[in-house]
Amino acid sequence: MGAVEPKPKMVALRQPPRHVVIGIAAFTLVLCFVFFTPRSAKLDLGSVSSHNPPRRPPTTTSKKSERLYGKDYKGHSSPADVNRVANETLGFGNIFVVGLPERSDKRDAIALTSSLTGFNVEWIDGVKGDTIPDKAVPFGADRKKLWETNLGSWRGHMNAVRRIIEDDLDSALIMEDDMDWDVRLKPQLERIAQGARALLSSASKPNSPYGDNWDLMWLGHCGEVFPETLDENKGKSPDDPGIQYMSRKFVIEKDLTVPPKDKVTGLVNFKDNPEFTRWVHITGAPICTFAYALSQRGARKVLYDLSVDHLTGPFDNALAGLCRRAVSTWGVKDIAAAGDRGLDAKCVSVTPPIFFHHKAKGLVNGDSDIQTVNDGQIREKGKTENIVWSARNNIKNMIMGTRMESQYE
Ligand SMILES: *[C@@H]1O[C@H](CO)[C@@H](O)[C@H](O)[C@H]1NC(C)=O
Repeated sequence: MGAVEPKPKMVALRQPPRHVVIGIAAFTLVLCFVFFTPRSAKLDLGSVSSHNPPRRPPTTTSKKSERLYGKDYKGHSSPADVNRVANETLGFGNIFVVGLPERSDKRDAIALTSSLTGFNVEWIDGVKGDTIPDKAVPFGADRKKLWETNLGSWRGHMNAVRRIIEDDLDSALIMEDDMDWDVRLKPQLERIAQGARALLSSASKPNSPYGDNWDLMWLGHCGEVFPETLDENKGKSPDDPGIQYMSRKFVIEKDLTVPPKDKVTGLVNFKDNPEFTRWVHITGAPICTFAYALSQRGARKVLYDLSVDHLTGPFDNALAGLCRRAVSTWGVKDIAAAGDRGLDAKCVSVTPPIFFHHKAKGLVNGDSDIQTVNDGQIREKGKTENIVWSARNNIKNMIMGTRMESQYE
């Protein structure tokens, strides 16, 4: 049809005016942009009503050459009050690092990595277990089974927790002295703040950028399973209100600060999930207390449950126990079955974690002040599991303004 007509005429008949063509082209471009832009965050909150996906802070420097670390990084989030996580105390009231004063090597490294990343820390002196008299050991703790080093570690952390209460801080981040993180820590925290708000249904104008409903945020751990897969929760019905609460996930997709999934370590089955996924989720029972934040309410619960009332084991197990008791008895009314309901602790975790302990180059034996391992061995290059642009391994690049080095290239 129309084949008999002379070509020029046909073109003239069919061709719309130039401004219409340009208009259509522009509209198509906008449509493509809308459809092919990756969604910033997938909210899978079980029974919780869905939110608008929050704006996604950048995790690469590809678009602009803006640095995603340092004091000048101000954040790119919406709502804008999330950007408070980029301040000098990462949106918390203070940041405490617990460590023995004589480990000057670790203090030097933390001073450099924190200041270059763009935050300030305050030191809490670690404690040696043998300086703690029997009378000061909490009810229920067996100091022989616990080892002196575990007791010392517990006390150092408790002194940090106590500072939150004595200084009447809204919150604080507490970390151990061998910590490492990605230089893009601030953009990571923007997403985590959005996640914590969504998981615990925070009010829209919270006092803390992370929302006002959390007690503990477990940002650095050796690994943990999701709470709905813990033995005591496996058999519960999907309609169980506790299961609905604990299954909530805030999924951060295409997070380039997550290592490739065959390199990530932890207890979740990363292989069955898309590459570069990070979850903000309700805490199950993490191992290791690399880095965690406490709200004022959370600090009170922890100092009561892990010192004033009793202590049941090494600090990390005891802290995980508080969160686990709370999540596994969520909403249970029967006191006989629920006990103290873990003081209703509201614990949130990040998996894979964003803080992990650094294995420094030099004496392998220098890694831990709790255990002695591999006496005499030397490590040639420092490494940190689960961290892509390791702050420790990029100190020189941050000082010199040179290209960041990935641990996975
Ligand atoms: C950083 O922001 C938090 C939350 O708004 C606030 O509590 C803290 O005081 C701020 N830090 C500094 C150094 O201003």
